Amino acid sequence: MHKIIIAIDGHSACGKSSTAKVVAKKLGYMYIDSGAMYRATTYYFLQNDIALSNHDQVGEALESIDIQFKIDASGNSQVLLNGTFAEEFIRTMEVNQHVSEVSAVSSVRRAMVSQQRQIGAEKGVVMDGRDIGTVVFPDAELKVFMTASLKVRAERRQKELMEKGIAEELSVISFNLMSRDKADSSRADSPLVQADDAIVVDTTHLTFNDQVDKIVKLAEQIIYDR
Ligand code: CDP
Repeated sequence: MHKIIIAIDGHSACGKSSTAKVVAKKLGYMYIDSGAMYRATTYYFLQNDIALSNHDQVGEALESIDIQFKIDASGNSQVLLNGTFAEEFIRTMEVNQHVSEVSAVSSVRRAMVSQQRQIGAEKGVVMDGRDIGTVVFPDAELKVFMTASLKVRAERRQKELMEKGIAEELSVISFNLMSRDKADSSRADSPLVQADDAIVVDTTHLTFNDQVDKIVKLAEQIIYDR
């Protein structure tokens, strides 16, 4: 059975990460949340007052950042920033508000993309993000472009934040999603665009299980050459 790379790109909060995680589990693949890498970098930059306009400072900061993924006791892939589990620090509104700006910096992207390619070298990987099918793995065997209406995405993100004990108004969340989509789609380096050969999955009216099943089926067709 040959292993493939599954690239899932799309707009903010359309369910990429949660879907990719379960797809990976069902296929016995590794799940890599590339957004978590940009978020961890953003968190580090905020903590250390890194000025994005200062190339030397950004370069030094990138040298001091070590991002790893480890499987936790429940079998989920978790991001570690310099050896510390970072999930709880990287999903805050503060990181949400700065991550697109940090992700637009070319040296940041080069560092992340190089690590993402190393992780995916052996295949058997599901990676989600904005440029996975276009830049990181342009030869990925399966490319999915996920999207959903802004309203549904904002409601889902609000619920997700609520479950983490963070109460945030829908209008604030919607505005952040819109701003990030705009920034991510219009940046000069690796903008969020749909790859020509990506399959679009609009999750507005899909249940979570439906969207997982859809992608698993697409993957199995390729893996087993059906
Ligand atoms: O989960 P959500 O859709 O809110 O975002 P994410 O996947 O965690 O990504 C956070 C941010 O990181 C995005 O808004 C992009 O600015 C950036 N990102 C990127 O530039 N390239 C990627 N491959 C993944 C994320």
